[in-house]
Amino acid sequence: MTLIFSGIQPTGNLQLGNYLGALKNWVTLQHDYECIYCVVDLHAVTVWQEPKELASNTREVTAGLLASGLDPRKNIIFNQSQVAQHAELAWIFSCVARLGWLNRMTQFKEKAGKKQENASVGLYAYPSLMAADILIYKATHVPVGEDQKQHLELTRDVAQKFNNDFGIEFFPLPEPLILGHATRVMSLRDGTKKMSKSDLSEASRINLTDTPDEIAHKIRKAKTDSDTLPGTPKGLENRPEAANLFGIFAALSDLSLEEVCMKFDGAEFSKFKKELTELAVVVLGPIGKEMARLVSDPGYLDKVLADGSERARNIAAPVLKDVYDIVGLLRSDNLD
Ligand code: AMP
Ligand code: TRP
Repeated sequence: MTLIFSGIQPTGNLQLGNYLGALKNWVTLQHDYECIYCVVDLHAVTVWQEPKELASNTREVTAGLLASGLDPRKNIIFNQSQVAQHAELAWIFSCVARLGWLNRMTQFKEKAGKKQENASVGLYAYPSLMAADILIYKATHVPVGEDQKQHLELTRDVAQKFNNDFGIEFFPLPEPLILGHATRVMSLRDGTKKMSKSDLSEASRINLTDTPDEIAHKIRKAKTDSDTLPGTPKGLENRPEAANLFGIFAALSDLSLEEVCMKFDGAEFSKFKKELTELAVVVLGPIGKEMARLVSDPGYLDKVLADGSERARNIAAPVLKDVYDIVGLLRSDNLD
């Protein structure tokens, strides 16, 4: 059986990388599979979050999932902290994962920066919580952007070691699903840096809530090179900014990279940017509008999350009970 799980942090604005690397693919998958999508607020607090902002960001990201086209009846959509089993399984996994494994995680190194001694213990242990998010549902496939591949490998290692240690085929080894033409959307200001919610430069990213004018302005200002546009993807090699913008065009239009190259063969960047702006406004405009509408109705969003959390708990609780039995943790409900 295929079961899809993925998560997204409620930290600041949703940006184009989130949409193309994750949300757009989640929307496609909902038509063919059972899917569970989680707003991972417990992951967010691994770095400081203003409490009031965290609550409103959780609602805003939920609005982003719905506005992108996820149906809350078809999928389970919820926020992580409402399902305590995630944190409980994460503790067990912190005892399964090895220090050596976590020491290799590049996201920790990037986020902790030079002051590793000052990073929270939670930021370091983050991958064992992520493994718990996925495995508490025994999910088999995880649609993510490329940056999460290493965490998925660690999830598989945790599942494998748990199964080996306890001599039972209990957890599946989940596969990453890295889909689409824009699995790693880069900053508009620097084609070698990932587009990110946390980049200090607003001009580096397109937010799902940007107005058409803002989108146009950011694309116009996006860094390019001085060559004309190539007729084949090979001509994008060693041109990180051009490759990034072409990848974005392909992903937004559902054309292949070859088709996009053919379309703009020999053209100037200005023509390309004009068409990219039009495309981005057509795709993102309605999402931004719908997000704004949903955010103005927090009661509805809270209801969606409460309902999703209850459905998630119904799956997670029996799995955690089995894990406790396997590990030998005594619970009074084992004594019946
Ligand atoms: P985060 O915002 O870190 O919680 O990421 C949520 C999802 O968006 C994950 O699947 C990431 O891999 C994906 N994602 C975030 N930034 C990018 C990007 N620049 N390009 C592609 N995918 C991304
Ligand atoms: N670590 C992911 C990110 O930063 C978010 C995340 C948390 C996640 N738990 C997950 C993604 C489980 C997929 C599956 O983007």
